[in-house]
Amino acid sequence: METLETIKTRRSVRKYTDRPVEEKVIRELIDLAVWAPSAMNTQPWGFLILEGKEYLKELSDQAKKGLVAAISENSDMQKYKNRLESADFNIFHNASTVVVIYGNSESSWYIYDCSLAAQNLMLAAHDKGLGTCWIGFAHQLFDTAEFKQKHGIPEEYKVVAPMALGYPEKQPGSGPSRKEYPIFGG
Ligand SMILES: Cc1cc2nc3c(=O)[nH]c(=O)nc-3n(C[C@H](O)[C@H](O)[C@H](O)COP(=O)(O)O)c2cc1C
Repeated sequence: METLETIKTRRSVRKYTDRPVEEKVIRELIDLAVWAPSAMNTQPWGFLILEGKEYLKELSDQAKKGLVAAISENSDMQKYKNRLESADFNIFHNASTVVVIYGNSESSWYIYDCSLAAQNLMLAAHDKGLGTCWIGFAHQLFDTAEFKQKHGIPEEYKVVAPMALGYPEKQPGSGPSRKEYPIFGG
């Protein structure tokens, strides 16, 4: 796919087939993610690969519970409360794989750097016919000491981008268009 077409046709995918993503493909995508620029070339990223629909469903249930418990009265998360309380809602949209990008917080710019790596991963996946969706709902759970300990994530690494990954049921193509944006000055 042409680069510009890849950029313009990527959309968040929320329906995946049951086909698992091959290890080789996951590694290829991560190898492409790390070609992102990083401040002072620190490359402060680290990756966790989570697989298996059953385990991901378990994690989704845990994350939903934590999120609902943390929603305060005036929070902008109120609008998601019903969805998060629904037993049928899976925060990973039933994807078979989730790649979590962690950043080493000892580097001041890790959030920028890892977000750029995340965009690389999303575009590379789309180019190869796979779909992704950044899952902010998983952020809280994946940053807990318990979860990090279980998965061997060093304490100084913080979650930046939990990414659902899978073969899309259909190619996205459409989806939210872009708003008018301000161009300042002049
Ligand atoms: C930081 C961040 C967090 C997001 N969290 C979620 C999420 O938890 N669940 C979800 O379905 N989409 C999530 N998204 C995807 C956005 O909803 C999506 O990118 C936006 O609606 C634009 O749509 P597009 O990606 O199809 O262009 C997130 C995106 C970003 C950048």
